[in-house]
Amino acid sequence: MHELLPIDPYTNEDLDYLDSDSRVSQERNDPNHLTELINVDFSEFSESDYIFIGAPVWWGELSWVINDFVISNDFTNKTIIPFAAASPSNFFIDELEDLTPEANVL
Ligand SMILES: Cc1cc2nc3c(=O)[nH]c(=O)nc-3n(C[C@H](O)[C@H](O)[C@H](O)COP(=O)(O)O)c2cc1C
Repeated sequence: MHELLPIDPYTNEDLDYLDSDSRVSQERNDPNHLTELINVDFSEFSESDYIFIGAPVWWGELSWVINDFVISNDFTNKTIIPFAAASPSNFFIDELEDLTPEANVL
C-alpha cells in the first residue's frame, strides 16, 4: 500500500469547497485536473494485475489527486478497483475511465 503524496500538500483552507477562490475550486475549473505527486513509480506495479486506487470524493467524482499516478503508468492488462477514501453518498469514475482506456476499471 502506498500513499500518493502531492508535491504541494493541501491545507484545510485549500480544501474549502464552499469558497470559490480556494485551491480546490480553482483546480476544479482547470480542465487539466493535474496535482503533481512526489511519487508515481512503484516497483511492484509492473507485476500487479489488480490496482486498488482510493481517493476522496470531490464534487461527485473520485478526486483528481490520483491523476498524476494514473497518467504516469500503463494499465494495459490491469484491473483498477476504485474506492472512496471516505464514505460519501455516491461517486462517478468517468475521469479515471477516460484516463485509463487500456485498463479494465471495475
Ligand atoms: C473539494 C471537496 C469536494 C467534496 N465533494 C463531495 C461530494 O461531492 N460528495 C461527498 O459525499 N463528499 C464530498 N466531499 C467530502 C469528501 O468526500 C470527504 O468526506 C472529506 O474530504 C473527508 O475525507 P477525509 O477525512 O479523508 O479528509 C468533498 C470534499 C472536498 C474537500
